[in-house]
Amino acid sequence: MNMRLTAAATALGWAFAAATPALAGDSSSIEKLATDKMCFHCHEIKGEKRGPAFEDIARRYAGQADARPRLVKAVQAGTTGPGVMRHWGNLKMPRDADRVPVSEAEAEQLVDYILGLKK
Ligand code: HEC
Repeated sequence: MNMRLTAAATALGWAFAAATPALAGDSSSIEKLATDKMCFHCHEIKGEKRGPAFEDIARRYAGQADARPRLVKAVQAGTTGPGVMRHWGNLKMPRDADRVPVSEAEAEQLVDYILGLKK
């Protein structure tokens, strides 16, 4: 498939989803985004890898009002910065600069997707 076309279509999809936050993106395109951003390199939906399972993250932060902005920040900036608590173990999530960069809109979509995984 033509990579440039695919990328453009994906970018359009993100722009649409960012403009309409009430509409959750369909999960297969979000999973593609998470794949493109290498999230699944260290995370799985179920089960621990280098980082915590996305379902465990959803469970842990369920019902916490400030979870979304905190996690959006963590997805963008990682958990290596000053003042970040160690809460999942010794491994840190690397800074954005050391991973595939994630925009704020993408981070919001990924966090909404993760928080929505709660059973
Ligand atoms: C190089 C490995 C690695 C990659 C790549 C990675 N993560 Fe992580 N992630 C981790 C580790 C390790 C933790 C646990 C961090 C901690 O306890 O400080 C974590 C924690 C998290 C958390 C919970 C943060 C918190 O404050 O509780 C979220 C949400 C998350 N990752 C989402 C993502 C998303 C979305 C992506 C893709 C954009 C991603 N991660 C890519 C390793 C990774």
